[in-house]
Amino acid sequence: MWTLASDVDGTLTGDREALNRLSSRLHELRAAGSLFLVLSTGRRLEQVQQGLTEEGLPEFDAVICQVGTEIYRSPLSSTGEPMPQWRDRLLAEYSRDVALSFLEAIEGLVMQDDEFNTELKTSCFLDGCPEPETAAAAIRQRVEPYADRYQVVWSSGRDLDILPASSGKGKAIRFLVEQEGLDSQRVIVAGDTGNDATMFIEFRKGVVVANAQPELFNLANCLNGGDVYLAENRHAAGVEEGLEHFGVLNGAAS
Ligand code: GLC
Repeated sequence: MWTLASDVDGTLTGDREALNRLSSRLHELRAAGSLFLVLSTGRRLEQVQQGLTEEGLPEFDAVICQVGTEIYRSPLSSTGEPMPQWRDRLLAEYSRDVALSFLEAIEGLVMQDDEFNTELKTSCFLDGCPEPETAAAAIRQRVEPYADRYQVVWSSGRDLDILPASSGKGKAIRFLVEQEGLDSQRVIVAGDTGNDATMFIEFRKGVVVANAQPELFNLANCLNGGDVYLAENRHAAGVEEGLEHFGVLNGAAS
């Protein structure tokens, strides 16, 4: 059985026709018991659920939300709570007040909406700063001495998240792989921006879609010894191309 852990926005979404085609192929693989599908996103759970009906997102076995700080296994619990083991582990190392202190007095910084600021994720926009890259570097420098408990995720020249050091998409997927007893050699990740980087670092086998941000292409170039496939196609068509490259879709009707 393969595991596909795919980002949502820009990776699966962006070309509805291609996504419909990919979703039906993924559905067949899941029905045949040969794929465990994880959606791994910065979205909130409700936005993922909405995407199932409104955007053609595929049904999944698990979903990782808020950039790897929340994990939900299908079928979703009636309380809608994320996996408590993961939450408790992260809460033990993270203080939102400390995370906020790293963002103090950065000119032009704007906090993201409350729904994207949780007990385990502190998120802001830096695209209103005079020099976003310099602001991100300054924040990284502040966090550096506390790297055992906090990490910075910088994406698209705009979004900056301060997360628990043990979280992030890559580590959340690793946790899930261990919980579910999945084969870590058969995990393929797919993404398009900086918040997907930890998935590639953790698993080494993945698909970068053609519309990806430079930060992810740069990482792909640095990952020597990995098996990162740079798709020629954009969005879901790129993911489909990558899955064909790795032989995951072979045997599934198109
Ligand atoms: C998603 C999240 C946002 C985060 C960004 C980058 O867009 O909604 O909060 O900053 O991903 O990780």
